[in-house]
Amino acid sequence: MARRYFGSAHRTPERDIHWIGFQIFKEHTGGGVYGGPGETVASILQSASQRAAAITLSTPADQIGRILDDLTFAVDELRHMTQFMGLYALVGGDTHKSIESLGQLENARRLASLRHELRTTDIGRAAVDLSEGGGLGLQFGLQEYFRICPPVGAIDREIATLSQAVLDDETKHLLAKFAATATLDNSDRTWSKVSDRLVAISTQKLRERNEQFSSPLAEHDIAGIASNRALGQTYIDDHLGFLLAGR
Ligand SMILES: [Fe+2]
Ligand SMILES: [Fe+2]
Repeated sequence: MARRYFGSAHRTPERDIHWIGFQIFKEHTGGGVYGGPGETVASILQSASQRAAAITLSTPADQIGRILDDLTFAVDELRHMTQFMGLYALVGGDTHKSIESLGQLENARRLASLRHELRTTDIGRAAVDLSEGGGLGLQFGLQEYFRICPPVGAIDREIATLSQAVLDDETKHLLAKFAATATLDNSDRTWSKVSDRLVAISTQKLRERNEQFSSPLAEHDIAGIASNRALGQTYIDDHLGFLLAGR
């Protein structure tokens, strides 16, 4: 997606405002990854700081650990959101709009409701967790694009810097979510269910990304990419090896 958009005439200043604006909304709401409907980076921070305020000498260490994890996670996402806000201002986005108004994409609504529906079971929730950041495809794609075409100008330099910063945080998030799947029973049946759900989420995620970038891909491209398991395996081998590095 990154290579299709950035390296082509499809990219325009208006479309830059559109994709960056939508990214602000996604960092704010999590697109169904942070929790049920209505959960945002602000509501996670609010509930974690209330729980932090209630800590006493007898609060179990694992409970404090979860509070710290939630705070750290939400601070990361809030930082991404504000970094994208800086970029949005740089490309000339209208800062009087509401964050909510930047997220009105049909495929984003569908992705969030799919994730909300799946997170009602342990297996579905594991798949939702593992889908955070869409396998980091956009960030790795941006890194690859800027390696081949080094950024020129303030906007592209900021996009390159930001995508590296997001990648540094998101690899940690994904690693933590991956480690948490150890609580699932380790049977082939369970993993094949996780994988089916992950494919469904990722396909919808790709549609969302496509709409975010003003549709550089046709629907048949998306269907082709989603059903190409060899392509998925190559991506995992090339970029997601860090998940298994510590095992
Ligand atoms: Fe993020
Ligand atoms: Fe994230």
